[in-house]
Amino acid sequence: MEEYPCVEWSEKILTGLTEIDDQHRQLFELATTFCGDGDQIRILKSLAMLTDYVRVHFREEEALMAACNYPGLREHRKLHGEFRRMLYELLENARQMSFDEIADQVRYLINGWFYNHILVADFAYVPTVKQAAAAIDDHAS
Ligand SMILES: [Fe+2]
Ligand SMILES: [Fe+2]
Repeated sequence: MEEYPCVEWSEKILTGLTEIDDQHRQLFELATTFCGDGDQIRILKSLAMLTDYVRVHFREEEALMAACNYPGLREHRKLHGEFRRMLYELLENARQMSFDEIADQVRYLINGWFYNHILVADFAYVPTVKQAAAAIDDHAS
């Protein structure tokens, strides 16, 4: 079987928001389970788990942006929807795909799309969230 490079988390995508960073990291960790050999059932299970986890992460991220009145929320939500659709499509087609094909797709989705989404779209909301957090701190002191 051909070797596929593993999905790789990197410090470059740290936002400084602990909870968000933990979730991003866990998603990358989940995605690495597609590296190496695997049987079809295990792969489908991992894929379902990954999809589920992405859904939860997006929901929490959107709630955080909404709580901080982030003006780019609508656009960001659209991007999340796009990614969810790609994952659902993969989940649907996975039964007819080889392990290599699935691993390749996951690598593209996580190392490619998701990684870049964090760098561009997630990084864009971080200052708003940090400002909102600082305002709450000021208020409390
Ligand atoms: Fe994110
Ligand atoms: Fe996001």
